[in-house]
Amino acid sequence: MTGAARVTLCDVGPRDGLQNQSRNVPAADKVAIVNALSASGLPRIEVTSFVSPRAIPQLADAEQVMHEIERRPGVEYVVLVPNLRGAERALACRPDELNVVMSVSETHNRANLRMTREESFAALTGVIALSRERGVPVNVSLSCSFGCPFEGDVPLAGIEEWITRFTEHGVSAYTICDTTGMAYPRQVREIMARLRDRFPRHVFTLHFHNTRGLGVANVLAAAADGFDRFDASLGGLGGCPYAPGATGNVCTEDVVHALHLEGYETGVNLEALIAAAQSLPAIIGGDIPSQIAHAGPRTRLYSLDEALSQE
Ligand code: COA
Ligand code: ZN
Repeated sequence: MTGAARVTLCDVGPRDGLQNQSRNVPAADKVAIVNALSASGLPRIEVTSFVSPRAIPQLADAEQVMHEIERRPGVEYVVLVPNLRGAERALACRPDELNVVMSVSETHNRANLRMTREESFAALTGVIALSRERGVPVNVSLSCSFGCPFEGDVPLAGIEEWITRFTEHGVSAYTICDTTGMAYPRQVREIMARLRDRFPRHVFTLHFHNTRGLGVANVLAAAADGFDRFDASLGGLGGCPYAPGATGNVCTEDVVHALHLEGYETGVNLEALIAAAQSLPAIIGGDIPSQIAHAGPRTRLYSLDEALSQE
């Protein structure tokens, strides 16, 4: 008999979640969030991004955060970079992996990165070469793969072409991103089946936003088809500041709760994760979209006295 299927989660909250907060979050709080995620058993954490501090002032402290986090053995600390300048800064901080980003939509790429896709591709191939020299693995994230808020659905052939071109530069790990929550389960299954057929040796991670309430449904649909790597964000924070209408990532504690009920293993301690999520409102100065941090797991029970005293 084989054991429960294992799913590898990456918490992108410290990057995707904190990049669009209006309140300034001190580096010490970011470090505390990353450390709490490590302690709760998350195997991967996207700690920050090395982007232009003018574009994303919220993450201008990327170096400081990378230097001050505690590195737990077995946890991979990933950072996002958009260009060579970002890669040079990032590599000086010894990340376990570089996550390079471009959009499969020309319009979103211009809005987000101020480059054409060809310019991004050229910049990223430079990043890939530099990382190889330094022995740091690279993952390519393709934004707007399930739809773009400017262009609508993006042709699958285009996504395949970008993967083919990066593959020629030796990249075998890809994150297929639903940047603005346009994905739905049937589409996820169709697109991912095509990509797996076409690139059977590649490692695919799925990155969903819950903008239209389908985040957990998309994760469960992909997991049922055997995809086993997902991004999610503590508390459900997140959103691209350069994509109209973008809101939070699928929430890590909601995903962990759902995956455990469905019989998957994540290695994450749900109670510790909920406690970490419950620290967020004080840090960001507002509520979090998380369902499980509010409702508790389905095993949470109330006493009759509690129910009566709420009247
Ligand atoms: N880190 C720090 N500074 C950077 C940088 C980086 N990764 N990339 C560029 N800069 C600086 C340059 O040094 C230059 O500074 P200067 O004016 O003081 O000389 C300035 O930013 C402009 O550089 P340029 O190459 O013209 O960049 P740009 O203004 O066209 O911006 C990006 C391009 C990609 C750097 C910027 O759009 C960006 O960082 N976007 C990130 C968006 C993002 O993170 N979105 C959410 C995640 S997907
Ligand atoms: Zn995202």
